[in-house]
Amino acid sequence: MAKMCLCLTANTLQRNLEILNKYRKYVDVAELRVDCLEPDERLLIRRFPEQANIPVILTIRRDIDGGAFIGGDGARIGLMARGLAYAEADRRRNFAYLDLEEDLSVPSLEEAARTFGTRIIRSYHNTKGTDADLSVKIRSMRHSEDEIVKIAVTANSTKDVLNLLRAGKEYPDQEKILIAMGHYGVYSRILAEQFGSFLSYTSALSEPDSPSAAPGQVDVRQMASLYRFRNITDATKVYGVVGFPLKATSSPHFFNTVFELEGINAVYVPFPADSITDFMKIAHELNVEGLSVTVPYKEAVIPFLSSQSSEVQSIGACNTVSRCAQGWMGTNTDARGFSDSLLAFLHKPNIKRKRVTVIGAGGVARAVAFALYHLGAKVLILNRTAHKARRLAGLYKFAWGGMADREIEMMDKYRDIIVQTTSVGMDGNNTNDASGFSDPLPMYNFCGKEEVIDLIYKPEMTVFLQRAADAGCRVQNGYDMLIRQARYQYAWFMGKEFPEHLLTRVQFPGT
Ligand code: ATR
Repeated sequence: MAKMCLCLTANTLQRNLEILNKYRKYVDVAELRVDCLEPDERLLIRRFPEQANIPVILTIRRDIDGGAFIGGDGARIGLMARGLAYAEADRRRNFAYLDLEEDLSVPSLEEAARTFGTRIIRSYHNTKGTDADLSVKIRSMRHSEDEIVKIAVTANSTKDVLNLLRAGKEYPDQEKILIAMGHYGVYSRILAEQFGSFLSYTSALSEPDSPSAAPGQVDVRQMASLYRFRNITDATKVYGVVGFPLKATSSPHFFNTVFELEGINAVYVPFPADSITDFMKIAHELNVEGLSVTVPYKEAVIPFLSSQSSEVQSIGACNTVSRCAQGWMGTNTDARGFSDSLLAFLHKPNIKRKRVTVIGAGGVARAVAFALYHLGAKVLILNRTAHKARRLAGLYKFAWGGMADREIEMMDKYRDIIVQTTSVGMDGNNTNDASGFSDPLPMYNFCGKEEVIDLIYKPEMTVFLQRAADAGCRVQNGYDMLIRQARYQYAWFMGKEFPEHLLTRVQFPGT
């Protein structure tokens, strides 16, 4: 099982010990980043392993490798020798590991380390990109067979992560640490076991004086509590959400909490990907069991499916994928999530003959239109780009229009319910119009009787929804649909109903 390592990057030994003691229960190993210490402190490292009372890696990272050490190799080797000096028979008082770069050869130091049980981690760092010859590196980097190979490259794309993963798979029996640094490689850290890594490095990111030791590191507490890193074995089923840029997602919180409460041996991770084609190869290599698919891949993922539900066929978008004997099968849980949410909001078993306006004709609107059609509603679709409204409306014989005044007047006949599906009003999206409103339909005046759903959930109240509420309308945001479609995803992944008794305990935080 991959070990969890806490990188200690504070500038004094005392502070590093405090941080270690605070997070000790989560980790198996600590890495003392000597290069981050004040110069005077660097001279006092010898007793650190004994004080730390946990296996410690001695690392003095050069600036060219992403560290803070700017002296020459002579000074660095001198410090290493100081750390290993006066080795004791009781190995717990010595550094357990010594990190030595592949281009640093110090036979006397290496021999001394070996004699007293200090294992060598032979490391290679690329702070700019990912090398083409990773397989050769893994095979030939070690100076002797008992060394652990560490390769930390910068993933500038999903293909870089794929190349690292594949190179590692060629050497299943070799002890190694493979890290794809940066945003694209975040799951190489969480899924260290699946990448065949000996350990994974984390940092105490909530401590202000403990900066991340490398780009893309996950906070130690998050690694332990959210991803339950130390429970991940090769038998753990892997799920995740794929999207781009996927800077923030609360789906891991939702699914991992359910897995934990239900005692399911599974983990759910973020898969930021700049190419769905490369990512699906990674999903295959990692034996991923199921995927939530988000922007912008809900359509692009369809060619990878060997079977698709009727929802995917009708909506033309897939947000849920799981492994099957033939490959991947996909469904779309947005439509059912929306239907359930709408009926619950209205306290009605159906909405036959209700008149509904849908604002927008993008991916979300397609799921909403599908749902409304099956609920038997009479629908008008309005979209900034009118021909898209016409195309979507045509599938179900709905009315349609653009957003000119004349077309908005059509809403008079379709305003029992209004569903806002565009991205206008979302956090950071203030692109609407010159007046500065983040409102997709500023010229529409609510009469106060409409029941209004805005599928945006962040912010909780959009300008549009607030306007509706101010006019006296009943309103709801998209959070309820988000939870409901996630429950259907869970059911699809697991082949069993979502445990409803957990509903009050699982949430999408920060939404
Ligand atoms: P999603 O999958 O979230 O629905 P999408 O498929 O890109 O995303 O669709 C975005 C929707 O928001 C579209 O209906 C889009 O209108 P256009 O078809 O005219 O592009 C709508 N939208 C985005 N920005 C808008 C804006 N500033 N004003 C009005 N509508 C906007």
